[in-house]
Amino acid sequence: MMITTPTAIDSLHIRYLEQIKAIDSTENGQDVRQGLQQDAKTLPPRYFYDEKGSLLFEDICNLPEYYPTRTEAGILQEYALDIASITGNCELVELGSGSSSKTRFLLNAYQTLYSSLNYVPIDVSGEILTASAKQLLSDYSTLKVRGLVGTYEQALAQLTPSSLSARIILFLGSTLGNFCPQQSDRFLAQIINTLQPGDYFLLGIDLQKPKTILEAAYNDSQGVTAAFNLNMLAHLNWRFRGNFDLNNFVHRAIYNEQEARIEMYLDCLRSHQVRLESLDLTVEFRQGESILTEISRKFNLDTLTQNLQQRGLSLLSTQTDPREWFGVILCRK
Ligand code: AVJ
Repeated sequence: MMITTPTAIDSLHIRYLEQIKAIDSTENGQDVRQGLQQDAKTLPPRYFYDEKGSLLFEDICNLPEYYPTRTEAGILQEYALDIASITGNCELVELGSGSSSKTRFLLNAYQTLYSSLNYVPIDVSGEILTASAKQLLSDYSTLKVRGLVGTYEQALAQLTPSSLSARIILFLGSTLGNFCPQQSDRFLAQIINTLQPGDYFLLGIDLQKPKTILEAAYNDSQGVTAAFNLNMLAHLNWRFRGNFDLNNFVHRAIYNEQEARIEMYLDCLRSHQVRLESLDLTVEFRQGESILTEISRKFNLDTLTQNLQQRGLSLLSTQTDPREWFGVILCRK
């Protein structure tokens, strides 16, 4: 006899966030215009993550050279039950949820300890968010998902009150490293502002380590990171009716020791023009110039925990792997 389980539909709500003009000028591509009109061209890393880019990022996470995902997953696997028992039952809000695969360690722990499981994944890719939410719902019987599709800034500004008394905001994968110190300060302030007193914040950060290990992680031998980097141009072509020719650019990633950050570039091979029709924008490219598509800062654990404490958070635990390559910090407002 077939047993029908309650329909997953009631447990799944996904909201596509609208742009709030006063807060950011992202959806209309002003960030792209700004970045490409500077002398040293830049593009926001957010544009890596169209559907194809999100899938390429999943591939990166499985590369032998790319240690961060695996290392963070190990830490979460080991400490998820500790984290869940420290916080008590709470709603899990995740910034940049992607495939939610590392989140499963936490969902397992909260499901083991508590009777309800409420998860609010936030991601710019609606396709990935929807697909992973459906997968999660079939794996966790008590789960309720309220997904938000949009940028972090939009989502934090539009988060509705928690359905439980407390909330934990998860910001994993060292995505904080994508922000320069100034942006990072602003973003941490926004997160802390969104937390109610008593709420929790779980932050995963990649730590400083030798240059050879870092550079290998961003220049993998199979060329997946190169494809991921170049895919940003294909995404811009689609989103803004552009004509970037991917053959005109090559991937380059270096570790800038001074700044303690990986810098990822697309180097331009020949002088040419690119047109982005929807932005009514023509951009000149010179041979040998490059677009900075991503910085990935590598942190010092003590400096970062001090920074969080100076912002009024109390530090509940810091965990690393045995090699101290990655850190997971739990704090409370
Ligand atoms: C998802 C931003 C943490 O910086 O390591 C991986 C993205 N870029 N390989 C990182 C990325 C190239 C990743 N973050």
